[in-house]
Amino acid sequence: MSIRCSVVGGSGYIGGEVVRLILGHPELELVQVTSERYAKKPLHLAHPNFRGQTDMRFSSAEELEECDVIFTALPHGMLIDRFDKVDAACDVLVDLSEDFRARTEEIYNAWHETPHPRPELLSQFVYAIPEIHREELKSTNYIASPGCNPTAIILGLYPLYQAGIVDETRTVVETKISSTAAGNKASLATHHPERSRAVRSYKPSGHRHTGEILQELGTAEISLSVTAIEMVRGILATAHVFLTEEMNDKQLRKLYRKYYGEEHFIRIVKERQGIYRYPEPKIVQGTNFCDIGFERDLSSNRVIVLSAIDNLTRGSAGQAIQAVNIRYGMPETAGLEFFGLHPV
Ligand SMILES: NC(=O)c1ccc[n+]([C@@H]2O[C@H](COP(=O)([O-])OP(=O)(O)OC[C@H]3O[C@@H](n4cnc5c(N)ncnc54)[C@H](OP(=O)(O)O)[C@@H]3O)[C@@H](O)[C@H]2O)c1
Repeated sequence: MSIRCSVVGGSGYIGGEVVRLILGHPELELVQVTSERYAKKPLHLAHPNFRGQTDMRFSSAEELEECDVIFTALPHGMLIDRFDKVDAACDVLVDLSEDFRARTEEIYNAWHETPHPRPELLSQFVYAIPEIHREELKSTNYIASPGCNPTAIILGLYPLYQAGIVDETRTVVETKISSTAAGNKASLATHHPERSRAVRSYKPSGHRHTGEILQELGTAEISLSVTAIEMVRGILATAHVFLTEEMNDKQLRKLYRKYYGEEHFIRIVKERQGIYRYPEPKIVQGTNFCDIGFERDLSSNRVIVLSAIDNLTRGSAGQAIQAVNIRYGMPETAGLEFFGLHPV
């Protein structure tokens, strides 16, 4: 099988990560990568890790050719203008932006300043956390790849919410995010003297990706704060969840095993010794793993759930490839076998 793939917005961090994974995939063939800034220039000019791996050059999105799968990695709101053209050029469209993640117009509009311009398209897309929407992914031609913060948070909390044992008015989540989460467009905030060694409260409340989290956890309320820290790739989500019934460590572990016991890309971290007793972003860099750990606070009914991902891989490009693997009936791990580096 050779599935012909193109990437629109391939000079960015997410587009580059999708290209990296396609180049290493046994069944996916890279046919085109677009960028307006780099049109006609070799891919390795934007992504030096491709040097010697491909002699392909970027093309303009105006020259988009037909292929099987198109991955779009454009800034928020930019696919919509060219949706029909991109849609007509492929069988399966995988959008990595937030444009089609909301299941309904109401959900989208509640978290964005302007109403969705093509609300009739929303219901066609599957929200692509494979562990939750595997069956729908098998037959869809429209894949909406989730946000990086939502991926870490949803995967961490899903078993507790599914079990119906959460006091839903009290969940508080803090995520620590890396600099690549902001994309590769420079700004004063990303300028080295400003960004280096920062511990910057980026969005203490009202993060617009909260809507995705509520949608997938099936709840009406969650308190999210996002802090930017000194890290290039990675997210650590720390969730404080208050339970409505008594659960000890053993019962919690059993619950997580029920949902994720068979999941290759979810690793439950619960070590009694060593320095890696909890999930840590640097251990999952470049991989599609989501490491999840939890701890019961013995002085209250609080559970602290920790989840770590690489925002570019598991938080976007990696899980998009996982979704395409499912869509085409390939092994879910195809092209995603890298298990990380240590030390890193
Ligand atoms: N970074 C993350 O951790 C992350 C995680 C999950 C999802 N996402 C989502 O994935 C999408 C891509 O994110 P990214 O981090 O890869 O962003 P990025 O590094 O800024 O890349 C954006 C890409 O879009 C192209 N583009 C086209 N028109 C543009 C315009 N008017 N302004 C800026 N870029 C334009 C850029 O290339 P040319 O200008 O050369 O055409 C570039 O290839 C976003 O929607 C983002 O929300 C990002």
